[in-house]
Amino acid sequence: MNERKIIVGLDLGSHRVSALVAEVEESGARRVLGLGTVPSEGIRKGVVVGFEPAVDSVRRAIEEAERACGLEIRSVYPCVTGDHFRAIRSEGVHATEGPGREIHEEDLEQVIRVARSLQLPSGYRILHTLPTDFILDSRKGIKDPVGMTGTRLQAEVLLLLGESSVLDNTEKVVERAGLSVEGMVFSPLATALAALQDAEREEGVIMMDIGAGTTEILVIREGAARHAEVLPLGSANITRDLSIGLNTSLEDAERLKLDHGMIHRDDATDEEMRVPIRQVGREEERFVTPKTLRSIIEPRVQELLEIAWERALSCSAARRPTSNVVLCGGGSLLPGLSDLASQLFERSVRLASPLQQQGLTAELQNPRYTPTVGLLQYGYRHLTQQRDGAGDKGRLGGNLKRWLRSVGRKGQK
Ligand SMILES: Nc1ncnc2c1ncn2[C@@H]1O[C@H](COP(=O)(O)OP(=O)(O)OP(=O)(O)O)[C@@H](O)[C@H]1O
Ligand SMILES: [Mg+2]
Repeated sequence: MNERKIIVGLDLGSHRVSALVAEVEESGARRVLGLGTVPSEGIRKGVVVGFEPAVDSVRRAIEEAERACGLEIRSVYPCVTGDHFRAIRSEGVHATEGPGREIHEEDLEQVIRVARSLQLPSGYRILHTLPTDFILDSRKGIKDPVGMTGTRLQAEVLLLLGESSVLDNTEKVVERAGLSVEGMVFSPLATALAALQDAEREEGVIMMDIGAGTTEILVIREGAARHAEVLPLGSANITRDLSIGLNTSLEDAERLKLDHGMIHRDDATDEEMRVPIRQVGREEERFVTPKTLRSIIEPRVQELLEIAWERALSCSAARRPTSNVVLCGGGSLLPGLSDLASQLFERSVRLASPLQQQGLTAELQNPRYTPTVGLLQYGYRHLTQQRDGAGDKGRLGGNLKRWLRSVGRKGQK
């Protein structure tokens, strides 16, 4: 029993908290064992705003997952998000000294340490260090310099910083729920692991995860993250607008959005369909047409997509016309949203579900679960890295190459 390698991903969303349990088999394959998912309390726009309610949500999600898989969960990989995150570029230079000037793992560690040693904005800390390029004696575009020969090694990295207090509070919530934190993961990185194909990562891709309270943007090209940003806007903004516009409760507005929300025109239903709504302070039943719903939903979605697109284009890699768009997150499920995105962005747009793996039920193959499934992938890489000899002090293991290119290094506090 002790020999079993169990990984648990914990998605602390603004809408739902989900815990997903998988077992790593001898072959290295991951087999999903069980899911626990509950409405989230105390988490708004990805950030803990109510400590005890958030702890309670985590406990309930974990208990449900434990019941589903029949195991006791002790440690998890939680994901974190929020508009406090900053992505900044940095670089480091290191002169090699070894015999024959061959680049060793230690040189790589050193050059990355230099790239990380810049003055951070006060109150922030590095959560991830993602190398984007290595330059060896002015030769650019080197993916993995270990084993090569050269005298001057330069690393360009993207540092993902989060507000220390927000990260600490997320960690405290998980610990108060009786769990230990194996490693915190910036949510879009987990999502990218589950949603993107290798070819997309190489060719260039703009990933947008539209959640309830946040929209996360991640730009990747040549296998490396180039830009990341979290907007404090999401599908809950649509619900809120419907509730105000139709004078209904948030619960009713959410139901209207899920059952009848869409942004493509359908003349037949526009003419015939009447959707019943309950208005606050009124007894008699009233009706709205799909056209009325659309007149509230569409401008909001368009605004959200335009802001996200403008932010994505702040990164030059996103401006390349070959960079296509991958959408995920529960908000991306609104019928017509991906068509509108493709019209606005003039790029091909794909709605992504988690890539297939053993035990992935139909429920989990929903774009909502991409970060949750991605956390398992992240956990697996983390576990392999530790097994290969990289300790917690930030030493890099033998599988460095794949690790760096896919998710980067776990940041040190
Ligand atoms: N079929 C659907 N059509 C329209 N909207 C949907 C659909 N399914 C889910 N949503 C919306 O997606 C949002 C939840 O998405 P998701 O589960 O990705 O959010 P989250 O991860 O909890 O939030 P965040 O990432 O912002 O912290 C809710 O606002 C919900 O109304
Ligand atoms: Mg989310």
